Amino acid sequence: MADLNKRLTTNVEGDFFVDATCINCDTCRQLAPMTFQEVDEFSAVYHQPHDELDIFHAYQALLACPVGSIGAVTKNTDLRKKAQESFPIELTGGVYYNGFNSEKSFGANSYFVTHSQGNWLIDSPRFLRHLVNEFQNLGGIRYIFLSHEDDVADADRYAEKFNATRIIHEADHEAMPDAEWIVKGNDVVQASPVFQLIPVPGHTAGSLALLYKEKFLFTGDHLWWDREKEELGMPSRLVWNAEQLLQSTQRLLDFSFEWVLPGHGDRIQLSPERMRRALTKLLASRQKT
Ligand code: SF4
Ligand SMILES: [Fe+2]
Repeated sequence: MADLNKRLTTNVEGDFFVDATCINCDTCRQLAPMTFQEVDEFSAVYHQPHDELDIFHAYQALLACPVGSIGAVTKNTDLRKKAQESFPIELTGGVYYNGFNSEKSFGANSYFVTHSQGNWLIDSPRFLRHLVNEFQNLGGIRYIFLSHEDDVADADRYAEKFNATRIIHEADHEAMPDAEWIVKGNDVVQASPVFQLIPVPGHTAGSLALLYKEKFLFTGDHLWWDREKEELGMPSRLVWNAEQLLQSTQRLLDFSFEWVLPGHGDRIQLSPERMRRALTKLLASRQKT
């Protein structure tokens, strides 16, 4: 629950505000860019939402914030309820962003994919009754894909609830020691006809990407969209091995995909050709440095 006494002075006057507990995870700026922006390494309300849609998005941000740093002085219970019910948000046929980001994963985004052979949870949101019910209604969870050690959050509780198989790379598996499926080595694993597990060591030794239908690439903290620069980004700090990081990104040129769905950073859809060009540009810029 946000604290008015800790309201940041960088917020404009009005109902919505961010307090000083913000961890600058970017979640609110992805969900409600008309309301929130980054100021001095925190988020702040730079434009108070007025119409119903903007207030709805501000409530989505309030609910997704991992540390409860967003407050609203005047409560709009109807829009808050609608925002709660909107999660998980379907991005496109059967692929969802879950919301309710967890502080345990530093506020990373998590996703859900429905599939006739069993649904997938990609990294973990907070364990909440609302999401449990929604996942149940969508057919439960068969697999929980863990992109790397930082983003496991409440995966163990979802696994227990749904009897799901947790997948993690052996180099990161101390974060989920009793995971049912440990991926070893650097080879791509064809987990099913439409799901591929791609080792992308670099940010951590055991980072994995998940490619679904050769269209959706779930990247953890390996690759994301930088909406200010309008280009792909990858870590330049918190890097386990910079050489491996570059090689892992180079490896992604072997695959075709349209979506990048990261833990941290923004998501993006581009044509496969534009995605390839963006990836090539990112590699060229890093190889120069
Ligand atoms: S979602 Fe919360 S913690 Fe993350 S940037 Fe916004 S206010 Fe800060
Ligand atoms: Fe990470």
